Amino acid sequence: MPDTLVELKGVTKEFRNGEIVVRALRGIDLVIRQGDFMALVGPSGSGKTTLLNLIGGLDVATSGTVHVFGRNLARMSRRERALLRLESLGFVFQAYNLIPVLTARENVEFVLELQGAPDRRRRALDALKEVALEAEIDRRPSEISGGQQQRVAVARAVAARPKLVLADEPTANLDSENAEALLKMMRTLRDEHGMTFLFSTHDPLVVSWASRVVKLRDGRVVSDETRDSEKEAARDA
Ligand SMILES: Nc1ncnc2c1ncn2[C@@H]1O[C@H](COP(=O)(O)OP(=O)(O)OP(=O)(O)O)[C@@H](O)[C@H]1O
Ligand SMILES: [Mg+2]
Repeated sequence: MPDTLVELKGVTKEFRNGEIVVRALRGIDLVIRQGDFMALVGPSGSGKTTLLNLIGGLDVATSGTVHVFGRNLARMSRRERALLRLESLGFVFQAYNLIPVLTARENVEFVLELQGAPDRRRRALDALKEVALEAEIDRRPSEISGGQQQRVAVARAVAARPKLVLADEPTANLDSENAEALLKMMRTLRDEHGMTFLFSTHDPLVVSWASRVVKLRDGRVVSDETRDSEKEAARDA
């Protein structure tokens, strides 16, 4: 049985804006295992980003528990959660959150530096090569396209080989050729380094690459499918 990386039990999340309460998640039970290449799908507003933020410890659940690498996030301090993120998680946000004054290479190196990784220059270069951006390494975010910024954000997220990568609509600004290249690269990281990926997406291409597809509607999981080929692989193992 593969390792459990993330476990959610009865997770709810409410946002309050004055009188109005938005129930973004209404009781999520979910286990993510090492090696999952998982697409989180569902209509706009169904709770995908909210769920990624809870798993990444960027926000806290209203009720229920979230365990990441066996640790209950609600029992950890902000600082401990920040360390967990830095050491073991990679993020790709919907807004790429690149630092505008730094070049592509410096954006990647900066996070490696925070992580205390050795060989930062070479690693940053390797990660940018993996996303086919070697020609743009010395450009700032304002000097490259939205799709290229997205690829820098992916390079930054995977450069230190985190155990778990959380990606919010990673292909939203890419044409299908670049999206496919990115998915292939992430699949290779899973296969060769045992990394685990969780994507929120509206993109059928991402869904076609996923080993597992979890569908949300109105803050609930309405289906959870593991692909046949994956099931066979698990059975043969
Ligand atoms: N900070 C917030 N304050 C108030 N309401 C919020 C907040 N964040 C999210 N919501 C609400 O929670 C619900 C779920 O939002 P969420 O962003 O998780 O959806 P999503 O599935 O990621 O949608 P999309 O596909 O459009 O990105 C929505 O109704 C949204 O308006
Ligand atoms: Mg979203």
